[in-house]
Amino acid sequence: YQTVKKAKEAGQVNHIIRKDLDKVVDFIDIEDITEKASLCRCWKSKNWPYCDGAHGAHNKETCDNVGPVVVRHKQQ
Ligand code: FES
Repeated sequence: YQTVKKAKEAGQVNHIIRKDLDKVVDFIDIEDITEKASLCRCWKSKNWPYCDGAHGAHNKETCDNVGPVVVRHKQQ
């Protein structure tokens, strides 16, 4: 199990999420999304695969500009 420090040094974008797996893949059924779902793209969320706002601290620390992808039903 890699440490966050080692993951950072190796240039990995994922420092904390399911590091015991070779690849992190998530499936979300569209039918289960009632209004909208915000999906994390910064790999810092503690509520993976959903955004928990952790991108804000990441952006502040690193001057990055990442944010979630919001999946929603088409506005009629
Ligand atoms: Fe990762 Fe919001 S917590 S995009």
